[in-house]
Amino acid sequence: MKCRKCGQKAAINMRHHKLALCKEHYLEWLPEQTARFIKKYRMFTPQERVLVAVSGGKDSLSLWDILWRLGYQADGLYIALGIDEGIAYSAESQRLCEAFAEARGLTLHIVDIAREYGASIPELARSDRRGKGKPCSVCGLVKRHEMNRIARDLGYDVLATGHNLDDEAAVLFGNTLNWQVEYLLRQGPVLPESPGLARKVKPLCRFYEREMAAYALLRGIQYIYDECPFAIGATSIYYKEMLNQLEAKRPGAKLSFYLSFLRAKEEGLFAPQEDVQQALDACPRCGQLTSAPGLCAFCRLIERASSEAKGAVRG
Ligand code: AMP
Ligand code: FES
Ligand code: ZN
Ligand code: ZN
Repeated sequence: MKCRKCGQKAAINMRHHKLALCKEHYLEWLPEQTARFIKKYRMFTPQERVLVAVSGGKDSLSLWDILWRLGYQADGLYIALGIDEGIAYSAESQRLCEAFAEARGLTLHIVDIAREYGASIPELARSDRRGKGKPCSVCGLVKRHEMNRIARDLGYDVLATGHNLDDEAAVLFGNTLNWQVEYLLRQGPVLPESPGLARKVKPLCRFYEREMAAYALLRGIQYIYDECPFAIGATSIYYKEMLNQLEAKRPGAKLSFYLSFLRAKEEGLFAPQEDVQQALDACPRCGQLTSAPGLCAFCRLIERASSEAKGAVRG
C-alpha cells in the first residue's frame, strides 16, 4: 500500500475514506481534518479560550496536541479520581498528563477529588446506592460537574473532550436502542452554552479510535494504555464490540451511522418539543443548573458522603 500524496510506503490505510497515507502525510492530514470539523460545526474560534479535559489516554492527549499545533488557545484539565486500587491508574495518568504539558510548555490545571471533597471516586461510590458498588455513574457525575465548574470559574469559553467516533457511535447505539429522545437531542459535536455552563465540543467525533491510536503512536505521544479498571464489562464496551463486527463487514458503517444521525437531526428529526424541555433551577450550593428541586445530584452525593464520614467518626 502506497501513500496517496507521495507514493512512499503507507503507514495507515483508511478503507472507509479509500485513503492510504505515509507517516508524514498522516500527521498533517489528521490536524487539517480536525481544523475543518472545528469550523464546520462552529466549535470555537482562535480568539476563544479552550479547556481540554485530558484523561492521560490517547484521544484527549492527541486532541490537546492537535489544538496546540493548530494555534488554538488550549489549556488542559486533569481530574484526579483516586482510582489506584490494584493498578496505579490515576497516578500514572496524571504523571503522563503532567509530562505532556511540561514538554510543550502548556498550562495544566489539576483537580484532586479526594483533596477537594474529602473522598476519592471509589470512596464516594460506596456511599451511593445507585451504582451497586461500581463507581462509573458516580465518576461520570463528578467529572461532568468538575469540568463545568473549572471552565466557569476560570472563564473558559469552551470545554473540549476527546470522544472519538467509536465512543459516539456506541452512545448513539445505546440511545437509539432505548429511544432516549432527550439524550439524542443533546448528542452531537457541539452542546451550546447555557447560563453558567461553557459550550462543550468533541472535535475528534469523526475519527475512528484506530485513527486516533495511529496518530498518538506516530506522533510519539506517551499515553496510558490501560482502560479504567472499572470499565471491564461495561455496556458501552459491548456496544463497541458489536459495532466493530458490523464495521468489519461494512467498512464505514460506524461513520455513516453517526453522520446520518447528525443529518437527520439537522433535518428536524428529534426537534425539541415544548413539553420535553425541562425547567432548570440553579443548585443553591454550587450554582450549576439542575432539574431536581434543592441541591443538585453532585452536591447531594458530597453531602451524603461527608455525613457518613462524620457518622463513622462518631460511631
Ligand atoms: P471517558 O468517559 O473515560 O471515555 O472519557 C471521555 C473524555 O472525557 C476523555 O476523552 C477526556 O476528554 C475526558 N476525561 C476522562 N477522564 C478524565 C479525567 N480524569 N480528567 C479530565 N478529563 C477526563
Ligand atoms: Fe471513572 Fe472508570 S469509573 S474512569
Ligand atoms: Zn506521503
Ligand atoms: Zn450543586
